[in-house]
Amino acid sequence: MPAPDRSGAGIFFLSSPALSIIISINYRETSLTACCATCSCMLVFQRIEHSALNSPRSIRGKTRVNVPEFLTPTGREEERLLGELDAERLPQHIAVIMDGNGRWARKRHLPRIAGHRAGVRSARTIIETCARLKIPALTLYAFSMENWRRPKAEIDFLMRLLREYLRKELPVIHKNNIRLLVIGRADQLPDAVRADVERGMEQTAGNSGMQLAVALNYGGRAELVDAFNRILDRVRDSGLPNAHIDEETISQNLYTAGLPDPDLLIRTSGEMRVSNFLLWQIAYAEIYVTETLWPDFTRAQLYEALFDFQKRERRYGGLSDARRRVTA
Ligand code: FPP
Repeated sequence: MPAPDRSGAGIFFLSSPALSIIISINYRETSLTACCATCSCMLVFQRIEHSALNSPRSIRGKTRVNVPEFLTPTGREEERLLGELDAERLPQHIAVIMDGNGRWARKRHLPRIAGHRAGVRSARTIIETCARLKIPALTLYAFSMENWRRPKAEIDFLMRLLREYLRKELPVIHKNNIRLLVIGRADQLPDAVRADVERGMEQTAGNSGMQLAVALNYGGRAELVDAFNRILDRVRDSGLPNAHIDEETISQNLYTAGLPDPDLLIRTSGEMRVSNFLLWQIAYAEIYVTETLWPDFTRAQLYEALFDFQKRERRYGGLSDARRRVTA
């Protein structure tokens, strides 16, 4: 057994002919994960510290993030990153391509489905953290139209996992005042999944906090095709011989109508692709790619991405303030 270092992580293997269990202890996150290699069921024990709410303070010209109880840093690195964030310059919409579940599992000699189960844990952490940071919108790419090409057993597992997630997490989502949306061709999802997501959307429709869009059977090109067809139908129904459409018309007919465009796109596991995700909406998004595999993506890593975002200069094709002053 390795002698675990208090600042890092330790992995322990317990094995017998019938069962092998991997126990991973992460001291930074103060969590303990036990994963059964045979069926991928996973147990996670996480310490959540409770302390008084911090009040917003201004440090070096920025407004310090008002730390809700749940976000109390669990390590020095997390505390440093949180302290560096400017509450007034957080993104309005974060979109995430959650990639690397399969590789995470392979590295541990586990079946791919164990990676997806571990991915749900990361999704839960990121959803709650964004909601508590009061990020207005978060979109997670959970199942693309291309994902139907995977083995049937993996697709079935992903659909079951999604239903399980909704069953367990809907009360938490609701309690956090989050509004659930599903974007994609929902009519092609299995009936049981569709019924669950519809119930989730109905239950949370009145919530005024973060909008959580889960992209399911989603494709960016298909979304544009659907938007154009919807516009054509409306023009036909209006009986007008001509119609003029502009960018606003297209935005209003996308699945994401009503959401701000993402200003930060995060992709895990290092691939430099947008994979048919929110093609219209990410026109001006800042892209943050990390090598971290999705199941390893923690709250501290989200803060890292936000910090990186706040360092960027967003020019939308114009000039920076400094250059504008020089050329004026
Ligand atoms: C990519 O990993 C991830 C997916 C196919 C999406 C599945 C996502 C989850 C299970 C997270 C849960 C989300 C919610 C909203 C509950 P991959 O299989 O493509 O990884 P690989 O590229 O390493 O093979």
